[in-house]
Order: sequence, then C-alpha cells, then structure tokens
Amino acid sequence: MRHFLSLRDCSAEEIHHLLRRAAELKALHRQGQLHQPLAGRVLGMVFEKSSTRTRVSFEAGMAQLGGHAIFLATGDSQLGRGEPVADTARVISRMVDTVMIRTYGHEMLERFAAYSAAPVINGLSDRSHPCQVLADLQTFVEHCGGIAGRRVAWIGDANNMCHTWIEAAGLLGFDLHIAAPAGYRPDAEAVALGGDRVRLFDDAHAAAEGADLVTTDVWASMGQEGEQADREAAFRDYCVTEALMARAGEGAVFMHCLPAHRGEEVEAAVLEGPQSVVWEEAENRLHAQKALLEWLAA
Ligand code: CP
Ligand code: NVA
Repeated sequence: MRHFLSLRDCSAEEIHHLLRRAAELKALHRQGQLHQPLAGRVLGMVFEKSSTRTRVSFEAGMAQLGGHAIFLATGDSQLGRGEPVADTARVISRMVDTVMIRTYGHEMLERFAAYSAAPVINGLSDRSHPCQVLADLQTFVEHCGGIAGRRVAWIGDANNMCHTWIEAAGLLGFDLHIAAPAGYRPDAEAVALGGDRVRLFDDAHAAAEGADLVTTDVWASMGQEGEQADREAAFRDYCVTEALMARAGEGAVFMHCLPAHRGEEVEAAVLEGPQSVVWEEAENRLHAQKALLEWLAA
C-alpha cells in the first residue's frame, strides 16, 4: 500500500507516469468518454482548513471515475471534539478505500497514515501541497514541454508550495530560483531536498531572469492570518509584476495555485495576462488527482 504525503513518496519515474496518465485522462474527459475504474470505491476527505479547488476536484474526480467521495469537516466530526487521530484513522480506513486529508501540522498526516489501512493523500499541510505541484507539473509540460533542465522561479514566501517545488526540483532535475526576504526563506534542511538545484536570491527580478516558469503564492497562508500586516511589509518587493515577467525567458508562463490576492503577490495584469496559465493549472488538479486516485487504487 502506498501513501502520497509528499512528492518524495514517488520516484521520478512514477511522477512521470502520473503526468502521462493525467494527460490521457484529460483527453478522455474532453472527448466525453466514460472511464470508471473506481466503481464502488469511496474516498474519505478530511478537511481541517478551507478549500475550493481541492474539494471540488477530488469530489468531481471520484464521481467521474465511477466512485464516491465523502466530505468530513473537522468541526463536524469527532476529530474536532478530540477523538485521537490514530483512532479516527483505524475507523475511517476500514470503511473507505482512500483517504485525503487537508490539515495544519504535517505530523497529523504522518500519524494518520501510520494507523491507516487505506492509502492517504496529502491535500495540503503546512509543509507541503504535492497534489497542487503535480497539477502544476502537468501544466508546465502542456505549455513548455519536459521540465528536466529547465528553470523555475519562485517569488515569495517559503511556504508549503515553495517546499514542494524544492522537492520537485531535486526529484525531477530542474533549477529552482527562490526569491524571498530575510526571515521568510527556506531553511537549510528544506533547501537540501533540492540537492544542488536550488539557489536563493534577495532580488525577485534577478531570480526571474531567464525562467521558463514564474510562480508565487499568497504572503500569508491559512493559519497565518494574524501575521498579514507584518508579511505585507516584508514582501512588498516580492510582487510578480509585468516588469518582473519581462525578465523571464521567451515563452515563460506564470502559475499560482490560487486563491490569489491581486495587488499583493501578483499584479492583476499578470494573473489575467497572456503568460498566465492559472485557470488551466486549476483544472489540472482534476486530471492529475484522477491519475493519482487510479494509481493508488491499483
Ligand atoms: N490551490 C488549492 O489547493 O486551492 P483550495 O484551497 O481552494 O483547495
Ligand atoms: N500556501 C497556501 C496555499 C493554499 C492553496 C496556504 O497554505 O494557505
């Protein structure tokens, strides 16, 4: 049994397999062809944080694959009243075939997985968001071709998304240029996951130089709302502007996992501009996760 708590739960070849399968499933879906290998299968989804894309893509994905998804908000379940994660894991995983969890501490996911009889998928933790980067890689391949040897610029907070990009760089062999202000840079342990592929920059424009992909995320992630004012001050020079995009390479694309804060981490003109592939990127959550669900169920 396999879990998908981080990209590093897969080999590079397995990630490439998932990306190829995601493209096939996208094509089938576009052709209106039914593909229901998960008939009778159930996905349990535990959400401790808000979501639009993750919930809808997993729920729609399971329906399209012939299965069913159950939504469980922590506040409405016994988890929210203190039932131990280990007990919840042993109960839920006897009833469903796969579990997806969105939570705060990554340790919660690891603890759940340790007690789970079913594969567990990380639907976002404070440490990583592998489903999103899987969809982002699919989007990159569609627009720019293979990612090995290419350059990705991450502008902004060294958060769960940045951390997952570091893992991807080490696994798939592309250069990752990270621009972040002091106090918000990835620590040495995190950077080491990228091997010699990761370079840190103070200057956002320098990090974007020659990049094939420029990507960013909110300055304050879920759970950091109280730091919004401090973060706005710290990240003032880390907005993805049209001027910054002009430093990127020919044919460069812009991605954002969404939701986006226009005028903070990205200018509206970039988000809505010709280099932005954010809507395709959001749609690819559906296809990439269907590939993942199918693979974990095999
Ligand atoms: N990008 C992403 O995971 O979006 P949601 O928070 O809406 O699920
Ligand atoms: N870094 C963001 C991603 C949201 C999809 C957060 O954790 O809130």
